[in-house]
Amino acid sequence: MSTEGQVIKCKAAVAWEPGKPLSIEDVEVAPPKAHEVRIKVVATGVCHTDWAFLYETGQGMNPRPYPLVLGHEGAGVVESVGPGVTKFSPGDKVIPLFLPQCGECERCRSPKTNLCKKNWANTQMGVLADGTSRISCKGQQVYQFTGVSSFSQYTVVADISVTKIRDDAPLDKVCLLGCGVSTGYGAALNTGKVEPGSSCAVFGLGGVGLAAVMGCQVAGATRIIAVDINPDKFEKAKEFGATEFVNPKDHSKPIQEVLVEMTDGGVDCALECVGSVAVMRAALESTRDAWGTCVIVGWTETEDMSITVMNLLMGRTLKGTYFGGWKSVESVPKLVEDYMNKKLKLDEFVTHNLPLDQINVAFDLLKSGKSIRTIISL
Ligand code: APR
Ligand code: ZN
Ligand code: ZN
Repeated sequence: MSTEGQVIKCKAAVAWEPGKPLSIEDVEVAPPKAHEVRIKVVATGVCHTDWAFLYETGQGMNPRPYPLVLGHEGAGVVESVGPGVTKFSPGDKVIPLFLPQCGECERCRSPKTNLCKKNWANTQMGVLADGTSRISCKGQQVYQFTGVSSFSQYTVVADISVTKIRDDAPLDKVCLLGCGVSTGYGAALNTGKVEPGSSCAVFGLGGVGLAAVMGCQVAGATRIIAVDINPDKFEKAKEFGATEFVNPKDHSKPIQEVLVEMTDGGVDCALECVGSVAVMRAALESTRDAWGTCVIVGWTETEDMSITVMNLLMGRTLKGTYFGGWKSVESVPKLVEDYMNKKLKLDEFVTHNLPLDQINVAFDLLKSGKSIRTIISL
């Protein structure tokens, strides 16, 4: 029986308040309104940012409205579409996008940026274009994290916040292109513009950092120095192309000094994939003067970063990246193609697979450094 036009009852992991584990609840997902798409979520990754929104509110993260369904690294199948939707039909395989690409705003029309402006304020506040969410629980509106909410068996997203991918793509792998892998990979390729023969340092070897390592390798960097305080991450980093490994805990002097010595003046490109302002500064100071570039990939919202201005006067560039600089709707299907054509690794990021009701275990695995990515099946 078709569910089109009906409210769908399903399971979702609801965050009732910050700092508390997620709880599996029966939720109601309303039909899509105009220019919206309802998706049956099949698989989702668990990203550091999901954890940070829940557990670091007030410690680097802005407060968000609760209750909330987190999850922004999902993949699924279109269940139904609202009025005015022309690009999607039921049965299409799709990846929902926390960064839309409307194609019409001044930023979408510019080749300089991927930061589409459309619906920005609403998605940041957990609602869709009309100011409400489509998910409710026990009669209460449940907010949709970045307008996505992939920790729910069904969700509704704006039709500019979703992209169609090829039919034979395995959803339990390509979901990673919804955030972490695309972000780190694009940070190296699009934002850092890593060059052949260059030297790079990647700070933090979670899913995002390993994808940055992969991007440096694809770009032809000859030295890729992997930096992490958890040495268990080095083996994976090697698989992704890292050539040297540094644990800051093994050195008495600051890590930037170690890197500057190792590279006789600093790396050409440093990528910060931790989300710590102290590490951001160290990353900048690890770059070579005259042309070194530091790319901030890690996420923090309320903290200030301090830098020595002289580092910039001496020709360094400090940049940040959001979703790896990819224009989301047009790029994600191409990244899926690259994976299917074995130009881009995804399977190697997946260390654990768990059902939705084990989602808090996935957070524990991430925070204890035991996982790179856990894929949740819904
Ligand atoms: N120096 C180097 N590495 C560090 C440090 C440090 N001081 N502190 C933590 N790390 C390492 C951790 O050991 C871990 O391997 O950073 C890595 C972070 O990985 P994950 O927690 O798996 O996070 P990930 O999902 O990769 O996201 C990284 O990018 O998108 C953002 O919000 C996200 O800020 C987060 C960052
Ligand atoms: Zn993410
Ligand atoms: Zn736009």
